[in-house]
Amino acid sequence: MDKIYNIIKASVLVLVAAGLIIGVQHAAQAGKSSGAPVAAVAVLHPTAGNQVHGVVTFAKVRDGVKVVADIEGLSPGEHGFHIHELGDCTAFDGNSAGGHFNPDGTPHGAPTAATNNRHIGDLGNITAHKNGKAHLELVDSLLAFDGPHSVIGRGVIVHADKDDLASQPTGAAGSRVACGVIGIAKE
Ligand code: CU
Ligand code: ZN
Repeated sequence: MDKIYNIIKASVLVLVAAGLIIGVQHAAQAGKSSGAPVAAVAVLHPTAGNQVHGVVTFAKVRDGVKVVADIEGLSPGEHGFHIHELGDCTAFDGNSAGGHFNPDGTPHGAPTAATNNRHIGDLGNITAHKNGKAHLELVDSLLAFDGPHSVIGRGVIVHADKDDLASQPTGAAGSRVACGVIGIAKE
């Protein structure tokens, strides 16, 4: 009787283990097939009359999306840095990228402002050194790779002037000196 009981116990354990393995495989597949990218990149090209160029990467992290920007050819100081509604850099002045990415219809503000007081695309300023190079790293909890806040296919714009983080609707950041389109990147 004990023997039979032990055989049943062993069988149950094997079934539970198999179930766990199948479950884990299933979860891994579900993650992969959800369709949402986990990395994106924008290559920024100068608008007419400028030399500003660079690369901005976007990566999914636990608290949102990590943005890393390396831009060069800037005048020293702060420059407005935003995600714009359209991934269209065809216009010589970058105006084809439209206004700030603002799916929630909120006012312009700082990236650190409350959710209802900034555009999704408001990434603040990027600061260039004397050599014209700027590096920025931030994690933004509102950016996403799917759903209404998805930045995939949107534009990235660097401006001639500083974003004052208050003036509506653009932060008075002046003309557009570089434009890029956010595309899906290799994981
Ligand atoms: Cu802008
Ligand atoms: Zn804005």
